[in-house]
Amino acid sequence: MARKFLVVGNWKSNGNVLEAMEIVNFLNQAQVPSQDVVEVVVGPKYECLLPVKTSLRPDFHVAAQKGGLESGGAFNGELSVKTLGCLGIQWVILKHAEVRQLVDKTNESAGDRFVHALSVGLKVVVCVGETLEQREAGSTMEDVTAQAIAIADKVSNWDNVVLAYEPLWATGTGKVPTPAQVQEVVHELRKWIEINISTEVAYKTRIIYGGSVNGANCKEFATLPDIDGLLVGAASLTPEFVDIITSAT
Ligand code: G3H
Repeated sequence: MARKFLVVGNWKSNGNVLEAMEIVNFLNQAQVPSQDVVEVVVGPKYECLLPVKTSLRPDFHVAAQKGGLESGGAFNGELSVKTLGCLGIQWVILKHAEVRQLVDKTNESAGDRFVHALSVGLKVVVCVGETLEQREAGSTMEDVTAQAIAIADKVSNWDNVVLAYEPLWATGTGKVPTPAQVQEVVHELRKWIEINISTEVAYKTRIIYGGSVNGANCKEFATLPDIDGLLVGAASLTPEFVDIITSAT
């Protein structure tokens, strides 16, 4: 089965419920390819999850930006996978570049969240990517592979895992890698999966690109041979996101 193109709009901590509803309104009216061709997911912040989930068109899905703790209890401020299930949320974004820099700083941290999220059937977008220093030092693949190893150690079934290649230096900075730079890393990552996990997993696992994607540059990333989708931050807050959804077709 071919890998279905996936577009994830990550709203980060932007906006309030009213502003989230404005985005929902233009998304609900958008003419986009059918969900058999392009899968669309949006990730509002926590307090917008339920309003967005209840108002968004049913062919689009909703992701949490954190979560994965097994259940409720004495875990101040945490969001459990059970809570996400109760809200009807099917996706979660883990190890995002900004979280990697500020909260879960080691490759291994957040491993349990990952396991819990997968164990209740959530689909997980898990991000990998190098810093500017690592790229300049020529260790990009080494660093991305180390992150992939920490993920692979926790996964027994890859059906619900999407890898997002998200170079930290291109995240929210407006600095855009060349399509060739993106293709090189993603191709190597898929080869690594093939050698170290299996040909089947390398073939079926979607790898998407995130980092300063916008309406003007989306097509050149969307059409790269090893790219199966886009992870979009700032541009997912605007109607430009609709152009990005259609960029693969
Ligand atoms: O989750 C999205 C990525 O962090 C990219 O964000 O498109 O604003 O650079 P950006």
